[in-house]
Amino acid sequence: MKIDFANINKQYHYLEKRIKKRLNEVLASSQFILGKEVSELEEKLKEFCNAQYSITVSSGTDALLISLLSIGISPGDEVITPVFTFIATAEVVSLLGAKPVFVDIEKETFNINHKLIEEKITEKTKAIIPVSLFGQIPEIDEINKIAKKYNLTVIEDGAQSFGAEYKGEKSCNLTDIGCTSFFPAKPLGCYGDGGAIFTNNEELYIKMKALRVHGQTERYNHKYIGINGRMDTLQAAILLEKLNIFSEEIEKRNNVANKYIAKLKNCPELTLPKIKNNRLSTWAQFSILTSKRELLKKYLNQNGIPTAVHYPIPLHLQECFKYLGYRKGDFPVAEKIANEILSIPINPYLEDNEIDYICNCIINFFEK
Ligand SMILES: Cc1ncc(COP(=O)(O)O)c(C=O)c1O
Repeated sequence: MKIDFANINKQYHYLEKRIKKRLNEVLASSQFILGKEVSELEEKLKEFCNAQYSITVSSGTDALLISLLSIGISPGDEVITPVFTFIATAEVVSLLGAKPVFVDIEKETFNINHKLIEEKITEKTKAIIPVSLFGQIPEIDEINKIAKKYNLTVIEDGAQSFGAEYKGEKSCNLTDIGCTSFFPAKPLGCYGDGGAIFTNNEELYIKMKALRVHGQTERYNHKYIGINGRMDTLQAAILLEKLNIFSEEIEKRNNVANKYIAKLKNCPELTLPKIKNNRLSTWAQFSILTSKRELLKKYLNQNGIPTAVHYPIPLHLQECFKYLGYRKGDFPVAEKIANEILSIPINPYLEDNEIDYICNCIINFFEK
């Protein structure tokens, strides 16, 4: 059997007619930049997560960058991020000349350990970027409480969690600013790069909208130093069709995850992902832990099952962050998880016989 990791192609065939129709409409209109599909999508996205304002952008990375620009992050500032995440979360902080300050993670959820945040706050700290890793929102109430106490801005990096819930509230609408990514393999993905920003703060919204177009407030009138961070109309058109089936797809991802958990729960030497109470995950990844990671990965690959390692090197050990002066051993939980984590295929289009096959292969590996 040959398993597909994300089944992007299968989803495309399911939506093909509707997507082509949408794309043809854009092609016929020639409104490739900020066409009507962009504002239509922004309306639908903000309705989806109950936020007052939404701005589509060119990627999840640019969503984070624009957010940090909007609150004036600049050299000398410090921004707290988890040490175990995709590089973009902290990269944007460094790009602005500010300093990313890392915090270790919880071993059960792989999310930032909120109990370790306060000790990292200094008079230079301006913001916290919690990441909703693999689709699960972290302890956001606790994080917001800490931020309030020290007057910090919270920006949720919801690149992997658009559609996730925390106590019934949607990801990207839980903090001062929420960012997401529509990279093709994300739970809601477009056919190139894309992202979105959400806020309930009108002032920030107006500023971020300007920052997306070179800091322009009126044509050729530039109030801020900004970027070219717009989403293409073609990508917006694709997302409009995908958004129609997105809630259904989140349910299907949860069904796949539940089946994995039921079948693998008695497998020794394997730790399964845990979702806390009061959360709905989008299951951007289904990541298991085993000390035999490399051997399992090879075995699954030989049996037609693709896997991925999210992430093999925590941020403090990345070459680009050497200048921050961290050392091996500084973040023991993240380091252990980076050595043991393995993501197995999860997507709404996995069939029951494929789930059975994947689980049986994993069970066979450990019984061998
Ligand atoms: C946690 C996290 N943050 C930020 C990003 C950046 O998103 P993008 O690839 O759309 O720039 C990603 C996606 O790759 C991500 O997983």
